[in-house]
Amino acid sequence: MRFLFSRVELLALTLLGLAISGAQAEIRQTSVWWLPRNVTMFGHEIDFIFYVILVLTGVTAVAVFSVMIYFIVRYRAKPGVSAVHSHGNNTLEVIWTGIPVFIFLALAIYGNEQWTQMRLKTPPADALPVGVIGEQFGWNIRYPGADGKLAKMTASKVTKENPFGVDPTDPAGLDDFTTYGELVFPVDRPIRLYLGSKDVIHAFYVPEFRLYQDMVPGRIYDFVWLKAEQTGKFQLACNQLCGQGHYKMFGKLSVVPESEYEAWAKGKAPQPTAAKETSTVPVVMAGR
Ligand code: CUA
Repeated sequence: MRFLFSRVELLALTLLGLAISGAQAEIRQTSVWWLPRNVTMFGHEIDFIFYVILVLTGVTAVAVFSVMIYFIVRYRAKPGVSAVHSHGNNTLEVIWTGIPVFIFLALAIYGNEQWTQMRLKTPPADALPVGVIGEQFGWNIRYPGADGKLAKMTASKVTKENPFGVDPTDPAGLDDFTTYGELVFPVDRPIRLYLGSKDVIHAFYVPEFRLYQDMVPGRIYDFVWLKAEQTGKFQLACNQLCGQGHYKMFGKLSVVPESEYEAWAKGKAPQPTAAKETSTVPVVMAGR
């Protein structure tokens, strides 16, 4: 039987496909083969624990495989030499069980403490609130206006026409402004995210922020916060397979100096004449 392509041709096609998809993925500006640059506060601890685990498991793997290979060669079957039966060594067993137990406990306690700091403590009061509602296939973004307050987002009120689930008469929301797929964060200022979904499960994922959070419809996640420490352009990617357009569900995210953020927000703010309506909620005319 003859196959359509030879192995060499298949390999070439695969490499070509990878090259094309790689070219399209673009955006990731830093190291493709290793961790991306970290630009957020919590990223230091996350990277630290990653490296600790990498070194521990790396050293253990090399040690275990070296001993194993040595024993396989040294004690291989030889004519005239009979096998020795061993019951093992209790002292050794206790030592090599006890050490990993302490290591795992230490990792668990440290990891738990970091998680508490990241997700379980109340975000700082001066954090900039930003609403992000995922949908097939894009991101509805909501920023507070001059009052610094975001309209209250309620999961049960989220509809097609009202993706943020806000009450149109909420005074906090009258000066809010929205974007589609465009996020701008001021550097060195805490950002508190209000995440949700309009339809299916999406996930807010920015590798350079070491930040990943699923967004299950029917919930507003108000405990995720971050602080970017460096400016730059990043990609917000959806990280849950959410349908045919999942691959193109990305947003533009830039971290800029505070003054630049203020200027950008000013330019996006609703004009005074339209201030009575929130731009996201179209007025539905009865009887039309
Ligand atoms: Cu939304 Cu994948």
